[in-house]
Order: sequence, then C-alpha cells, then structure tokens
Amino acid sequence: MTIVVAGATGKLGGRIANSLKAAGADVIALVRPESDAAKTDALQQQGIRTAIIDLMSGDGLSTALADASVVVSALQGLGPVIIDAQSALLDAAVEAGVQRFIPSDYAADFTKLDEGENRNFDLRKAFHRRLAAAEISSTSILNGAFMELLTYGMPLFDRKAKTVTYWGDPDQLLDFTTMDDTAAFTAAAALDTAAPDILRIAGDQISARQLAALSGELTGAPFELVRAGDLDGLKGYIQRERQSHPESETEEFPRWQQAQYMHNMQSGRAKLSPLDNERYPMRWTKVRDLLAR
Ligand SMILES: NC(=O)c1ccc[n+]([C@@H]2O[C@H](COP(=O)([O-])OP(=O)(O)OC[C@H]3O[C@@H](n4cnc5c(N)ncnc54)[C@H](OP(=O)(O)O)[C@@H]3O)[C@@H](O)[C@H]2O)c1
Repeated sequence: MTIVVAGATGKLGGRIANSLKAAGADVIALVRPESDAAKTDALQQQGIRTAIIDLMSGDGLSTALADASVVVSALQGLGPVIIDAQSALLDAAVEAGVQRFIPSDYAADFTKLDEGENRNFDLRKAFHRRLAAAEISSTSILNGAFMELLTYGMPLFDRKAKTVTYWGDPDQLLDFTTMDDTAAFTAAAALDTAAPDILRIAGDQISARQLAALSGELTGAPFELVRAGDLDGLKGYIQRERQSHPESETEEFPRWQQAQYMHNMQSGRAKLSPLDNERYPMRWTKVRDLLAR
C-alpha cells in the first residue's frame, strides 16, 4: 500500500512514517518548502520518499496522492493548520480517489466534550465536520495524553519538587500512551482496510494517587499528593487566565490551554472507553516502564 504522511518532519509524524516503512508500506512524506532540510534527509535515508509541497498552494499534491490508499495527517498547529491546511489536504485526497483519511487527532476523547471545553479540541471538531461531509472514509486515533509529557514536566507531575498535583478526585484514572506506541498503532490502523471511524487506545491508565505511590517506589523518596482544588476552581482559573492574556490566543499551548487538557482528564469527561488496545499485536509501554527509564 502507498500511504502519504503529512507532518512527517514532526515528532509523531516521523514515528508514524517509520512504523509504516517498517511494516512494508510504500511511504510518501509530504514536506513543506520551509521544513528543516536535515529532517527531510533523515526521512529519505530511511527509504521514505519525500514530496516538497505547500498544502495551501496545492502544487504537486495531486501527483503525490495519485497512488495513495490512505493519507495520514500528523500536522500540528492552530486553525490555519488543523482546519485550513488539513482541509486542503482532505480535498486533494478526495479528488485523487484516496480511500481513507486519518486526521491529526491523537488526543483524549474530545467526541464526549462540548464546544468551548478545549480550544484545540474545538479545532479538531470543526475539521471533523468537514471530514464527515467528504466522500472518503476516515479513522480517528484517540490515545489520551502522550506519556512522555510526564517527563517534560506538567502541572500533574513535578519530579524535582516530588509532588503530584490533582484537581477533584485523586483516584480518577488518566489515559497515557507513548508517542512510539501511538505511532505504531496508527500505522497498523492505516494498513487495516477494515479499521472503524474511531479507535481508542491507552498504553496505561493511572490516577494521581497511584502516580505518587509509583514515583515514591521507583525513587525511594516519598512523593506528596497535592490537592490544588476542585474542578470548578480549575475552570475559574482557565477563564481568568484566558481573559487576562488575550495575546496568548495565537499560542498553541498557553497555560490556560494546558489547564483545559487537565480539566478534561481530571473530570473523566474525555476518558477513553471502551479501548481498542487488542485490535493489533502491541506491547504497550506502561508508566512504570517510562519512569523507571
Ligand atoms: N495527546 C497528546 O498529549 C499530544 C501531545 C502533543 C501532540 N499531540 C498531537 O499529535 C499531533 C502531532 O503533533 P507533534 O507533536 O508531532 O507536532 P510537531 O512535532 O510540532 O510536528 C508538526 C508537523 O506539522 C507540520 N506542519 C505544521 N504546520 C504546517 C503547515 N502549515 N503545512 C504543512 N505542514 C505543517 C510540521 O512541519 P515543519 O517540520 O515544517 O514545521 C511538522 O511536520 C497533533 O495532532 C498534536 O495535537 C498530542
């Protein structure tokens, strides 16, 4: 199968392209003219064909898509990318007779959330309305939070301070999947002609209380479980922070946006269930594995 990957110079897209290549697919990576040439070279060295294309002008896109069965999008950005550039890619895929489109979702279950609960998820909902109206089938991959976020530092988990901070219920289970596992599963879904329109996965599910206990066990030093407040308090913080920083509307991950993700996870409203983890043979990385490393 020929699979076209958009966003292959990115963290997730590169992993998806590699997983597809390893599975024997013919992979074409769409690379924009301004992309880092070293990243394009790295893709080519892995045997991935690259096509330099500006999605908005569309020049060369129909040629790149001519033999494709599936388009996988791993684009990242705000409205101009998730809605405009991704829609240009979708329209070209329909025009070229591509059978299936995998949108750049890779998120918590935003299908359960209302508009306004998460700005970045609202962009994906808007794109999904276009996808639903297009004459092409689709598969959305929903994986919760990337597990690596625990190692970058997020409000939930502070390794230096040895704290795990939560809002609401300390026993609420939170969904995490590594980027490698998300990419491997997405590649399997791209090659699966019977894949449904949504696949939900979670490499691991862990609560704030369990995360504190696990971290204490792995480091030999206790981690404090800190209650930051209730979920209404978190909602109030999001509103105040957003209103007082209008300039941050053009940022992908301002503080209020990160807090929206936390609210979606800690409220359990975007919890992934039922899971499709067993659909393909996978060895899921657990939070214990990642933190131990
Ligand atoms: N669940 C989670 O916790 C989580 C966390 C992070 C990301 N994600 C999701 O994973 C997906 C990929 O994110 P990522 O972290 O891999 O992103 P990333 O590393 O920033 O890569 C983004 C990719 O999109 C390309 N791109 C951006 N704007 C473009 C445009 N206008 N035209 C063409 N290409 C464009 C970039 O190309 P250049 O190399 O040229 O810039 C790059 O290849 C997104 O849907 C994101 O929301 C999920």
